Amino acid sequence: MNKTLLAIDIGSANITAVIARNNLDYKINILGTGSYKSDGINKGVISNIEVASKCVKEAVLLAKRNTTEQIDSTVVSISGAYTKGLRSSGSVNIPNGLITENEINQVLQMALYNATIIPEYEVVHVIPIFFKIDDSADVENPLNMNGSRLEVSVYVVTAKKTSLTNIKSALKIAGITVNNFVLDGYATAISILDEQQKKFGATVINIGATTTEYVCYKGSSLIYDGFIPVGSNHITNDLSVMLHTPPIAAEKIKTEYGDLLKTNEELVNKKVRTPRIGDEKNSSEVSLEHVQTIIHARVEEVLTLIRNNLKKSGIHENLGTGIVITGGMSKLIGLKELATLVFDGLPVKISNPINIKNGYISFEDEKMATIVGLLLYSLEPNRNFELDSNKNLIKKRKIQERIEKVENTISSQDDSEKFVQQQREQKLKQEEHIIKGDHNTTILPTISKDKKGRGMSKFWNVITEWF
Ligand SMILES: Nc1ncnc2c1ncn2[C@@H]1O[C@H](COP(=O)(O)OP(=O)(O)OP(=O)(O)O)[C@@H](O)[C@H]1O
Ligand SMILES: [Mg+2]
Repeated sequence: MNKTLLAIDIGSANITAVIARNNLDYKINILGTGSYKSDGINKGVISNIEVASKCVKEAVLLAKRNTTEQIDSTVVSISGAYTKGLRSSGSVNIPNGLITENEINQVLQMALYNATIIPEYEVVHVIPIFFKIDDSADVENPLNMNGSRLEVSVYVVTAKKTSLTNIKSALKIAGITVNNFVLDGYATAISILDEQQKKFGATVINIGATTTEYVCYKGSSLIYDGFIPVGSNHITNDLSVMLHTPPIAAEKIKTEYGDLLKTNEELVNKKVRTPRIGDEKNSSEVSLEHVQTIIHARVEEVLTLIRNNLKKSGIHENLGTGIVITGGMSKLIGLKELATLVFDGLPVKISNPINIKNGYISFEDEKMATIVGLLLYSLEPNRNFELDSNKNLIKKRKIQERIEKVENTISSQDDSEKFVQQQREQKLKQEEHIIKGDHNTTILPTISKDKKGRGMSKFWNVITEWF
C-alpha cells in the first residue's frame, strides 16, 4: 500500500502542514491541511525550540482533524540560512556492461564520497547535474543503458548539523519524527517550474517574510542555491520606523497601498492616515509617494543583492528562460516590472505552484510553493534519481514495478475497497469549506478524488500516464 506522508513547511510567517498519500493511480491525494502562525523562528533558523515546537504541533493537529490515517513518514523544509552547496563528481566501472539502479546508486555515493564536506555539515541532497556513459555525455537517464563506465557530476546541498538537530528536537517535542529534509528553495523550484524552464534554465526566487531563497535550474537539475536573510517583514519594519507607526499598521499599509507601478505624480497628493507609535490615539498623514519610496528601496535592495550574487558566481549567464518569483512578497504590485529592470531586461514571471488538482483545496497561492514542492518531491513517481538526506537513492518508479502495483491493487479489491470507503467517509465529514478560527489558525478541509476507475481502467490510467 502507498505510504501516508506528513509534509511540513516551517516558514517565518506561517507553518503549513499537509497530510497526503498517493492514490492507487499515483495522483497525490490530500488528506488534511493546517496552517498556524509562526513563532520561535527567525530568518529561517529556530530561535526558540519550545515555542517553535508548539506552533508546528498546532499546524499538524489542524491537518490531522480530517484524517485518521497513520503517518508513515515526515518530510520537512529547511532554510538556506544554514546550508552550503558544492559541486562534486564520481565514476564507477560497469563490470557486466548494464547500468542498473545499483550502479546509479554507486556512482552517486562515489560523488558524495569525493565531495569536500565541512565537518560540522551534513548532506541533504546529492543531485545529478549530468550523467556520462563512456564518451557520451548528455545521458538523461542512465538506467538500463549499456557501457563500461558511468560518470556523474553532482550538486551537493549540505546543512549545519546543529540547525538540523534543532529542527529534529522541536519536532520531537511535538511528537513528530523527521524522516527527510528538503531545501526550501529546491522544493519551491520543483513546484514552480515547468519542464521547459527546468530544462533550459531558470532562477526561482522565493521571497517570504524574513528570508529570500533563490535557486538556479539548468538541464533539469539544480545547479546553484543562495539565500539572503531579508524578506517582506523588512519592508514592514522600514515603514514602521520611518512612518513612526506600529508594525500592524505598517503591514496594512504595505499590503493595501504597496504599488510600485504608480508614478510620483499619481501619488504625490494621495495621503493615508496612520496611527503614531506610542501615541495611538493620534494619527498622522503620510503621502503615498513616501510609502512607495520606502517599499521601492527595500525591494530594489533585495533584487540587486540576488543579481550581484548570481553575477559573482557566474550563474547569471545560465538563466535561460529567466527569473520566476514566488513567496508571499510576490503579491506586491509592480514587483515584476522592478525585477525586470534590476535583472537587465531578462524575462521575469510571478508564479504560483502547480495546483494539485485532485484536492479541492487550492494550492495555487504563492505562499504554498514550498509545501507543494515537498509533496511533489516525496510523492511524484517520476522524480529523477538523486540521494536524499538519508543518502538513500530516490528511485524512478520502474514501469514493471508500477504494473505490479496496479495488478496487486486489482487483485486485492478488499484493500482498495476499504481505502475508497475511508475516503468517502472523510468526504462526508468535510462539509465546511474554509473555517477561519482565531487569527492564528486556518483550517482547510480535504477531499479525495472520486475513484471512478476500477480494475482494468485503473491499470489503463497508469499505462496512459507513462506516455
Ligand atoms: N501584497 C503584499 N506585498 C508585500 N508583501 C506581502 C504581501 N502579501 C503578503 N506579503 C508578505 O508575505 C510574507 C509571508 O510570505 P510567506 O508565507 O511566503 O513567508 P514564510 O514562508 O512564512 O517566510 P520565510 O520563507 O521567510 O520563512 C509576509 O511577510 C507578508 O507580509
Ligand atoms: Mg517560505
